[in-house]
Amino acid sequence: MRDLIPSRIQGLELPPFDPLNRRAAELRAAGHHVISLGQAVPFFPPPASALDAARAAVDTPDVNRYATDPGLPSLRDILADRLSETLSATMTGDDLIVTAGANHAFTLALTTLVDPGDEVILAAPYFTNHQMAVVNLGAIPVEAPIADRATFDVRWTDIESRLTERTKAIVLCNPSNPTGAPVSAVEGARIVREAATRGIVVISDETYMQFVYDDAHWSAASVPGWRQNVVVIGTFSKSFGMMGWRVGYVLADAAICDQLVKVQDTTIICAPVISQMAAEAAVRESWTYPLTFHDELRQRRRVLADGLATIPGIEWTPTRGGMFAFARILGCVESTRLSNHLLEREHLVTIPGAAFGPSGEGFLRLSYGYATQADLADAVGRLRHFFGD
Ligand SMILES: Cc1ncc(COP(=O)(O)O)c(C=O)c1O
Repeated sequence: MRDLIPSRIQGLELPPFDPLNRRAAELRAAGHHVISLGQAVPFFPPPASALDAARAAVDTPDVNRYATDPGLPSLRDILADRLSETLSATMTGDDLIVTAGANHAFTLALTTLVDPGDEVILAAPYFTNHQMAVVNLGAIPVEAPIADRATFDVRWTDIESRLTERTKAIVLCNPSNPTGAPVSAVEGARIVREAATRGIVVISDETYMQFVYDDAHWSAASVPGWRQNVVVIGTFSKSFGMMGWRVGYVLADAAICDQLVKVQDTTIICAPVISQMAAEAAVRESWTYPLTFHDELRQRRRVLADGLATIPGIEWTPTRGGMFAFARILGCVESTRLSNHLLEREHLVTIPGAAFGPSGEGFLRLSYGYATQADLADAVGRLRHFFGD
């Protein structure tokens, strides 16, 4: 069978989430209290506006039909209004394509703008699915390790040294999964401008744009002239607790969207219509919904930060966004083994840093988006127990 599969696909490696979750389920079934800091998901459900709209949509004929490829015009228009304000960017509905989530949006953007053989620079540690999408396309992922290993603030100098004649795109994750670090306005704008002068596109995955806690989110689309070379990826998955609804978007100049929609048509035709209707209600009626969870998320981050600070051998400078701690484990050279040990011995799910590229080795990603404050305190106790041993 393997012979049928091209080496490009054989070479892809799934992130370790499924095996870790499967093992966690086995341990739970055996009666153990397993705590998961593994999932990059928020604890809250979708807003009532979205659920009500979906219930009402079931009784309309439109929900059974295709929408136009780029998405419902009413959703694109209202989303453009809201994003213009939130991201400090000028846009219209023509600059947006509604997709089946952010991963799909990223793949559409990449397929539209990058050729097989082109090099794509990933600020690293990177979001694993970005690297996989690049390989899947037959393009070449180039890891650009972020030099500041405490704050994980990405700088132009981190990217610059990786540029070659074949560089076609730079990928930013802002705020980052796995580190939780937002991109600063100064360095972000520099990356966009330097890339523009070289004809390089910046694909900025802003999945966690509504989860920046200590200052305002900076978007790549806020740079004057952004249309020339910026594509922003967004989603309803995290902000509105709508992971299973599969709805997200690409923000790019309308001329790029006109090309991108061809790829949309060949892949899914249009995003699920019922999800688009629910998303529209969320945008219209509940745009600030994610912000209402900031206090709770800040407190969870505090519980984790205070707890980790008491464990010799673990270092984490709390990052200002997302829902992750990317903690350095002193002396760790095999984070996958460490993660497996933590699951077997402490019944604690963590994600090995190596899952986010070689530069993530020696770290663990601990998510505070789903675990309660009590679970986080318990998890810290388990880590202390483990590292004390
Ligand atoms: C940075 C980032 N991009 C994209 C995704 C995928 O989001 P979606 O559910 O919208 O496809 C995730 C999910 O964890 C993510 O963390």
